Amino acid sequence: MNNSHLEKLADTILSRIRRRPGRPVSIKSLSRSLKIEAGEIRAALTVLKTLGYKIRHRKETITFVAAPDSLIDTEIAYQLATKVIGRRIRAYRSVKSTNDIAAQMAQGGEPEGTIVTAEAQTAGRGRLGRVWHSPAGSGVYVSIILKPSFKPDLAPGLAIMTALALAEAMTVFTKGEVKIKWPNDILIGGRKAAGILTELSAEKNKVEHVIVGVGINVNHRSEDFPAELQKIATSLRIANRRKASRINLLKQFLRNFEKEYRRYQKGQLATSRKRVLRFSSLLGENVELRFGNKTVSGRVVDIDATGALIIEKDGIRRPVTSGEVSVVKA
Ligand code: BTN
Repeated sequence: MNNSHLEKLADTILSRIRRRPGRPVSIKSLSRSLKIEAGEIRAALTVLKTLGYKIRHRKETITFVAAPDSLIDTEIAYQLATKVIGRRIRAYRSVKSTNDIAAQMAQGGEPEGTIVTAEAQTAGRGRLGRVWHSPAGSGVYVSIILKPSFKPDLAPGLAIMTALALAEAMTVFTKGEVKIKWPNDILIGGRKAAGILTELSAEKNKVEHVIVGVGINVNHRSEDFPAELQKIATSLRIANRRKASRINLLKQFLRNFEKEYRRYQKGQLATSRKRVLRFSSLLGENVELRFGNKTVSGRVVDIDATGALIIEKDGIRRPVTSGEVSVVKA
């Protein structure tokens, strides 16, 4: 919200009044210190209220009451305190897919760390050509632009690194059991609560950009999911039996992501591997892994520093870097 003069003014007023939540600020003093008419302050307040800010307005004073739980740039940026990730924010109401917009922007020169968010997606994409159900106002849909200097073969670990940052962020918002289902699903109580779609563009063995897309089911009720997903999907709201703050969850994730990404660039998953393993839902399980028309089966014994799943069968250990895993019950 910082295009027009009025929007800039609304931003300035917001930062003044939210420093003292619950405490009235006089319109006269604002008008004097900002060198503007009281009428302009009133117009800026209308902008803020339209965005969902709760502001008490008495004749001579205004009081900050609460911010909306909306994915708007001002709220995402507020006290985010990251250095790279989310320093530039493109927040939309509704888009086809934030991953597509982020990819176009990355191609157009947008720097590493820029994020694209949306309140709703009309053509949200999941892995393997699936649809990512993205209703308005209940989920977090975000894509992060990365321009890493490593070779494309190191990219698979990024999904696991992202999953770790996400699982740890979600743990802050629920007492439910949060797990990572390699390579890109986050489960709560065994049901899918978030997914990650990493898409890479490379030329001549050099990564041009990677788009890390994350979809989180936050305030969905069971009936908000299509019938075929109701038994396998969940949300923080379903797990907690109350709503969670989408904006705080997004910010927690971005902060975690920045830390993990910095570590990852230095030594892939080496320093975070123990935590990855602690969150892993597949460790020790007998699984079947499909990629293309091939199937591999065995017991999951490890996730290595590149993010590969290590499967053991007949005493032989094999690393697998992609595929669709299902647990085989004995
Ligand atoms: C999956 O579990 O299959 C991955 C889901 C990824 C969904 C996110 S939502 C934000 C970003 N934009 C998309 O179109 N997809 C990802």
